[in-house]
Amino acid sequence: MLVELKNVSKRYESPDSGPDMEVLKGVNLAVGSGQSLAVIGPSGSGKSTLLNVIGALDKADSGQVLLEGRELSGLDEKALAHIRNRQIGFIFQLHHLLPQLTVLENVLVPTLALHNGDKSADLPARAESLLQRVGLSEWMHYRPGQLSGGQRQRVAVVRALINQPRLLLADEPTGSLDQTSADNIADLLADLNRTDGLTLIVVTHSSRLAEKMNRTCHLADGILHEEAQT
Ligand SMILES: Nc1ncnc2c1ncn2[C@@H]1O[C@H](COP(=O)(O)OP(=O)(O)O)[C@@H](O)[C@H]1O
Ligand SMILES: [Mg+2]
Repeated sequence: MLVELKNVSKRYESPDSGPDMEVLKGVNLAVGSGQSLAVIGPSGSGKSTLLNVIGALDKADSGQVLLEGRELSGLDEKALAHIRNRQIGFIFQLHHLLPQLTVLENVLVPTLALHNGDKSADLPARAESLLQRVGLSEWMHYRPGQLSGGQRQRVAVVRALINQPRLLLADEPTGSLDQTSADNIADLLADLNRTDGLTLIVVTHSSRLAEKMNRTCHLADGILHEEAQT
């Protein structure tokens, strides 16, 4: 399994010193390499928390999170940072591009943390070919502020892919886009899964995006349920 969660729980302290809030209550999940999974559920149900725990951005309180069979809780911060940078790509609802950098420079930001050996690869050429794939070769030297919302999100997808991750985690990637741009991103994600075999876990409110994934899980009351496949 590429990703495995065993009885994962996560709680947050209540802001008003009330009882802790149990966001994840024993979540089990197994995602094989090459699969694509949509996670749906009401707002506040813990979808982002779940994604952050899988992506080593946040820690589970109990249970096990395994990435390629390695348990994340056993790793130190340096090893976790390496996993976040090399093995996982992240896409968020808001693109988080740096406004002062060009599209091409933004895409190369995750490569800055790579060790020297990895930099021998021709990263700008890889960036350019990915930008071409998402229809942005004309826009490489523009700044994010000069692009549409849909174009900016495509830049964010390319940035997530630049270090060739095995796993792409997306948190409501079409949540702030118009329908056409949202469909465009949904098609791009589905294509990355089908053509490149990239494993995807996508939190979404969009049934159109969820339908493009192989599996759908529903998170409610801290429990993750798989929906029967149609
Ligand atoms: N860092 C945090 N500290 C305290 N509470 C949090 C934190 N992050 C999320 N929560 C709470 O946990 C619950 C789940 O949040 P979240 O995972 O963002 O849900 P979703 O993404 O499904 O909307 C919410 O009630 C939220 O307020
Ligand atoms: Mg969320």
